[in-house]
Amino acid sequence: MGRLENKVAIITGAANGQGAVEAELFAKEGASVIATDLQEETLAALVESINKDNGNDKVIGLKHDVSSEDSWKEIVEEAISRFGKIDILVNNAGISGKQGIHVEEYTLDEWQAPYNVNATGNFLGVKTVVPFMKKNGSGSIINISSTAAMVGGQGGIPYHASKGATTAMTKALALELSEYNIRVNSVHPGIVETPMFKNAVDDELEKHLKSKVPLGILGQPEDIAYPVLLLASDESKFMTGSEIVVDGGTLAQ
Ligand SMILES: NC(=O)c1ccc[n+]([C@@H]2O[C@H](COP(=O)([O-])OP(=O)(O)OC[C@H]3O[C@@H](n4cnc5c(N)ncnc54)[C@H](O)[C@@H]3O)[C@@H](O)[C@H]2O)c1
Repeated sequence: MGRLENKVAIITGAANGQGAVEAELFAKEGASVIATDLQEETLAALVESINKDNGNDKVIGLKHDVSSEDSWKEIVEEAISRFGKIDILVNNAGISGKQGIHVEEYTLDEWQAPYNVNATGNFLGVKTVVPFMKKNGSGSIINISSTAAMVGGQGGIPYHASKGATTAMTKALALELSEYNIRVNSVHPGIVETPMFKNAVDDELEKHLKSKVPLGILGQPEDIAYPVLLLASDESKFMTGSEIVVDGGTLAQ
């Protein structure tokens, strides 16, 4: 029996990187998955390949903009009509926003861009999904934050602030929702080799960043997907309001 047997999960930003591997892993562990992303075609190809591997059609792919409340309503409506409930929400979709400039150079739009996706997107997801989790009598919400929520110097200022917001929101939600048996935790990746990271660095910078990681390697999407799986499953039934750092030892220095 899989670790997520009979569970229904929404995973955002699932067309690439960590979200894609989480969709694969969750399906392998028995969950029905609503995988969502802005990138419809890439997502459709992933969904087809997961369902083919598992010999079923328990993963569906839906176009979604997490920063839009209407888009969230459509996703949740579809999830309920297809699977009847929602047990797990992985707020994974994220963007890094503009980096490499000084605070006084940021425009208001550049400040708001990562906030709209990384923080407001997570808020809208929780707001839309929680009524169904309350009805269900349980739930697990996992907000993908970053080590950038804990220390400076890892990205643009708006990105740090957006991840700080989602981390603080996680703790407030954990307290508010504990009486409904809804757990809310955050995961804090260090550097993970996904399109987000690859698009932001050249070879030289990648080598330099790798040299700063005590384990001497960069994270792979599955390194984040396994802790997310733990939080999604009932194995973590005593965990809420927690922060799981997955960074090869970087913040331990
Ligand atoms: N890669 C890293 O080094 C790293 C480090 C720390 C935290 N993170 C966080 O991990 C999460 C996953 O990132 P990743 O590295 O897999 O990045 P990625 O760029 O590979 O994947 C992110 C996905 O989110 C989707 N997305 C972006 N905006 C969206 C929106 N408005 N609505 C719906 N989908 C949207 C993208 O299309 C993409 O498929 C993000 O929240 C990111 O901030 C990544």
